Amino acid sequence: MIIDGKRVSEKRLELLKEEIDESGLYPRLATVIAGDNPASLLYVQMKHRACERVHIGSISVTLPGDSTTAKVLETVDRLNKDPDINGILVQLPLPSGVETEKIIEAILPEKDVDGFHPFNLGKLLGGYPTFAPCTPLGVMTLLKEYNIDPAGKRAVVIGRSIDVGRPMAALLINADATVTVCHSRTKDLASELKRADIIVSGIGKARFITADMVNENAVVIDVGINHVDGKLCGDVDFAAVSEKVAAITPVPGGVGPMTIATLMENTFKAAKMQSCRTVP
Ligand SMILES: NC(=O)c1ccc[n+]([C@@H]2O[C@H](COP(=O)([O-])OP(=O)(O)OC[C@H]3O[C@@H](n4cnc5c(N)ncnc54)[C@H](OP(=O)(O)O)[C@@H]3O)[C@@H](O)[C@H]2O)c1
Repeated sequence: MIIDGKRVSEKRLELLKEEIDESGLYPRLATVIAGDNPASLLYVQMKHRACERVHIGSISVTLPGDSTTAKVLETVDRLNKDPDINGILVQLPLPSGVETEKIIEAILPEKDVDGFHPFNLGKLLGGYPTFAPCTPLGVMTLLKEYNIDPAGKRAVVIGRSIDVGRPMAALLINADATVTVCHSRTKDLASELKRADIIVSGIGKARFITADMVNENAVVIDVGINHVDGKLCGDVDFAAVSEKVAAITPVPGGVGPMTIATLMENTFKAAKMQSCRTVP
């Protein structure tokens, strides 16, 4: 089975637009970008397009590539204080001179729609409701849409970054899976993968996971985005692995579209939470 993230994301965006229209709210997202990294510019543009589609207002703050930490902090502080802004997304990576950790920590947790603030990551790890990072939360939505229940399953997450691997592991634990996290120092990745019912790969190495590393019943979720000969591909050798496993996401058209749809859902959630607080 091919898990079609494009189809699911389209469906969820349509539903979200209806919900937003019915809510009477006008959620607003602010994006902050520093420098002119082409990939970052493209991602931000895609996010603004999705906002338009679901009737979320969006503003974009573009800072020069030589911005200091203080300058980015000043922008975040202004957006934190702006009652018309419900969600703040600082596009990563920031230029090398900017202290990313300080910037993420400066975003108000209730406007942290990317879910990277330590307060939100801590709540996620504790199993409390919070904003979860969009990519792993999008993976959970995909599993749900395809009736794949992680409860009691052996899940292997490859990668331990704060945007993919770590929150992915927390979400799977919260969904009652038995979770193993692998990374570059894992001794025998293939034998960990062989035993997995669910594999989520966020490595960033083209076609690294091969058919001999997985079992026939596995559900394989490929988060990786790699460029080979001008084409996109995932961490998984899709042609061979898709012939063997029970279900798999393609790249492109798998997890990628879910990340943006989830960002829209997180922004609406932020707007709803903030509106509850301001109603007398
Ligand atoms: N689809 C989407 O929307 C989306 C969103 C975010 C990211 N991505 C993609 O997902 C991939 C991962 O992103 P990221 O931000 O998590 O990257 P990252 O911060 O570079 O993390 C990569 C992880 O992979 C591990 N790793 C590297 N080589 C490995 C190996 N040979 N065996 C096992 N583990 C290995 C690293 O281990 P160590 O910790 O030991 O170094 C690290 O934990 C990238 O391709 C990125 O473009 C996609």
